[in-house]
Amino acid sequence: LKWQDPVSSAKLYFQKFPEERIPLWTNPCTDPRHRAILPPSFNCTRKTLPDLLILGPQKTGSTALGSFLTLHPNVTQNTPVPGSFEEVQFFGGKNYLRGVEWYMSNFPNTSTVIFEKSATYFDNPSAAKQAATLIPHAKLIVILQNPSQRAYSWFQHLLAHKDPTAVSSGSLLSILENSTTSSELKVKQRCLSGGKYVHHLDKWLEHFSLQHIHFVDADELKREPAKVLFTISKWLDLPDFEFDAHIRFSESKGFSCRLIEGKTKCLGESKGRKYEPMTDELKRKLDETFQLDNSALFKFLRKNRLQIPEWLEEAVRVTA
Ligand code: A3P
Repeated sequence: LKWQDPVSSAKLYFQKFPEERIPLWTNPCTDPRHRAILPPSFNCTRKTLPDLLILGPQKTGSTALGSFLTLHPNVTQNTPVPGSFEEVQFFGGKNYLRGVEWYMSNFPNTSTVIFEKSATYFDNPSAAKQAATLIPHAKLIVILQNPSQRAYSWFQHLLAHKDPTAVSSGSLLSILENSTTSSELKVKQRCLSGGKYVHHLDKWLEHFSLQHIHFVDADELKREPAKVLFTISKWLDLPDFEFDAHIRFSESKGFSCRLIEGKTKCLGESKGRKYEPMTDELKRKLDETFQLDNSALFKFLRKNRLQIPEWLEEAVRVTA
């Protein structure tokens, strides 16, 4: 038997098992052996983990959905996290290494339904497994936005942030057709990735049952937010709430906003930006790019008897 100090033995261990370098957090409160050795600061008697994750993807209306959901008196969101658009961005990201206690510290002590929305989760390759290991009973919401529109919206987001690659490329069409450098390929990947719905859903379905996932049509969310929120609140077994009395369409914003104490509170200017619609040429190119993904999503929803968004019916009909 050979003795090693802990640091050297840890080094040896991770040389042998490099895939374990990132821990996989479980909920220590659910295991009596872990509970027995937790520090006093770790309070297992209160509810500390979310019941619901809004997965995104980015640019699908996830911020609007989260903000409308908090109107319900029995629903609470995480406390805003500075530096990451108020999102916790725990699973699959660098915050994961801050540990379970840090994650729990983002949620208020409340008996209501707690949710967090991190639009970085949906297309992250590690998020599903990490989420299922820590919060296996959580419910999930995925927003289905036409991936062509989502890609364009993401490109507009990059332009608004003066991303040098997006700005110098001139257009999303050019990024799609001429990308060669790693920064161009990265922009392309960021515009396209989230829209490959079935590809990413497969990962989530390895760890969560379909009954735990609710799909929202992004166009319906824009058109009839109160209806979408009503359906979600039924799915979450929440008491009835009149969302339509608390949501109002703003002509100047061009989107629905929350009505709080008689005042219309819209999302900030980075949500619901004003820009030119995409050209027919770009739309054709994007629709072509997503043709197989859209057709896979259509088949998936039909097979599982789930509502098929109008944009998807249309996309599949046009490219059939
Ligand atoms: P655009 O700014 O490109 O129009 P996310 O919050 O997931 O990043 O999504 C941002 C998108 O949400 C916006 O993209 C906008 O189209 C959409 N959206 C849907 N409902 C909205 C609302 N009520 N207010 C603002 N944006 C909304």
